[in-house]
Amino acid sequence: MNAPELIVALDVPAFEDARRVLDALDGLPIVYKVGFEAFCAYGDAIRDEIEQRRQTYFLDIKLHDIPNTVARAIRAVVRPGARIIDVHALGGSEMMQAAVEASEQRAAELGIDPPEIFAVTILTSIAPEDLRELGLTGGPGENAIRLAALARDARCSGVICSPQEVRDLKSFFGTDFKTLTPGIRPAESPHGDQKRVMTPREAREAGTDYIVVGRPILESADMRATAQAILRDLVPA
Ligand code: C5P
Repeated sequence: MNAPELIVALDVPAFEDARRVLDALDGLPIVYKVGFEAFCAYGDAIRDEIEQRRQTYFLDIKLHDIPNTVARAIRAVVRPGARIIDVHALGGSEMMQAAVEASEQRAAELGIDPPEIFAVTILTSIAPEDLRELGLTGGPGENAIRLAALARDARCSGVICSPQEVRDLKSFFGTDFKTLTPGIRPAESPHGDQKRVMTPREAREAGTDYIVVGRPILESADMRATAQAILRDLVPA
């Protein structure tokens, strides 16, 4: 089993804060997560900065619109540093397929590797009663598996999920269909608002491909040492 890769969430309000994180973690084998906050507040600057450092990022912008609009948005964000981009599986098969094709086509035009397209299935903030309100039958787990199957058929690289779901997803869809998991806490870190967490080592043992870590690194007194400790836990013994 391969070692999962570490994605560090740049969940900070200003470009200067994000640059401090990049400086502290300089040279480590890390993919950065540029989420809504970073993308809206300083998206151009941070993508340029990560690319200048020859590192890569996961653009966590959860696209969800008609297929043509999503394809055009994907074309606009495919760049050398964009390693992963995500879309909502609830946008449907055609939309996910359009995203994958746009990523491949734009990357071919630029002569770069296509960013992997990942699908968000059911947000972890959605409770069973929220699904009923939306008219979706079944619980969050069933819906997540159904949507993951659609994502795989649309040629997405994988899904974003809870670390607790990785084993089931890998047994249903095989190890080539990737998982990207937030909700990771080193044993000694506070859980914050994350309810069902796994340590980096447990997530690796479950077989995940990417782990996302935010606050345990961002709020630590020594960001570099914390990230290095996590990276050590990701290497199989
Ligand atoms: O600080 P923390 O390690 O909890 O950060 C996790 C990151 O992953 C945040 O950017 C959060 O928005 C994201 N995320 C999550 N749970 C999900 C989906 C995304 O924690 N279900």
